[in-house]
Amino acid sequence: MTLRINKLSKTYPNGVKALDNLTLEIQKGMFGLLGPNGAGKSSLMRTLATLQNPDEGTIYFEDIDVLNNPMTLRKTLGYLPQDFGVYPKMSAMDLLDYLATLKGITSRKDRNNLIQQVLEITNLYGVRKQFVDNYSGGMKQRFGIAQLLLNNPKLIIVDEPTAGLDPAERNRFLNVLREIASSNIIIFSTHIVDDIKDLCNDMAIMNGGKILKKSKPSEATKEIENKIWIHNCSREKLEEMEQLHIVLSSKYNEDNSINIRVYANEQPAEYFIKATANLEDVYFIALKNHHQA
Ligand SMILES: Nc1ncnc2c1ncn2[C@@H]1O[C@H](COP(=O)(O)OP(=O)(O)OP(=O)(O)O)[C@@H](O)[C@H]1O
Ligand SMILES: [Mg+2]
Repeated sequence: MTLRINKLSKTYPNGVKALDNLTLEIQKGMFGLLGPNGAGKSSLMRTLATLQNPDEGTIYFEDIDVLNNPMTLRKTLGYLPQDFGVYPKMSAMDLLDYLATLKGITSRKDRNNLIQQVLEITNLYGVRKQFVDNYSGGMKQRFGIAQLLLNNPKLIIVDEPTAGLDPAERNRFLNVLREIASSNIIIFSTHIVDDIKDLCNDMAIMNGGKILKKSKPSEATKEIENKIWIHNCSREKLEEMEQLHIVLSSKYNEDNSINIRVYANEQPAEYFIKATANLEDVYFIALKNHHQA
């Protein structure tokens, strides 16, 4: 199972180039698309979901030429947009029944079985009689997954599903994704590095409409092993440090000193201590390289 995105470009009428000759190949499993605000994640996902056309490029999912056969793709696609509108005043069960009917499942028995199944996968069975409108943010996101599972999709695209969820709801949501990832391609976008770390077998870092890096999370951190250094400096020294070194991040300590993380092949100075590389370092290095280029 492969999704092949080749040389995709899109410039909006206002002149913003949201996709810039983007090429990417995605295999079965959980794929994380990581990038800051405005990187082009939603533009890419809407294009994959056949809701907008690129100016150039091709997309193939298995043997489906997606841009020329959008209806064929839609039969096997589940898409959860970044912002979805309001819900009608209906219980989760009734709404799923309505949606399943729209999707052409005419047998009541088949619908009931399917609905029970998607409610159980998304852990919403116990609250199936509540109005979706009254659900918490996390429950609404899980309902979004429940409804997209109704057509048994092979390609699932979820755009920033964890934004705004508290840690417990975020975990519940990620567990649901984990459960459905084994037999599908799931692409999910986020700007939270930890979402990717615990969940994805593959990922890409995106900014400026381009893929800056594609890698397995574990391999990406391995590449920069022994190249991350930390040092506590005073506030006044921060600017100087930033001029001398590649400072990836800086965090205030309780005593008001600043802990900086620096990227360097060799120990930058004797007062630097080697640190364990993490995925956040990978992310900041990719973004820094991009800004310098
Ligand atoms: N319909 C549109 N018309 C014009 N410009 C747009 C449109 N949609 C997005 N953009 C611009 O394209 C760029 C990429 O936006 P996009 O929404 O794809 O980024 P994103 O990575 O999803 O960001 P976020 O993390 O904030 O959701 C941004 O500069 C944005 O302002
Ligand atoms: Mg977005």
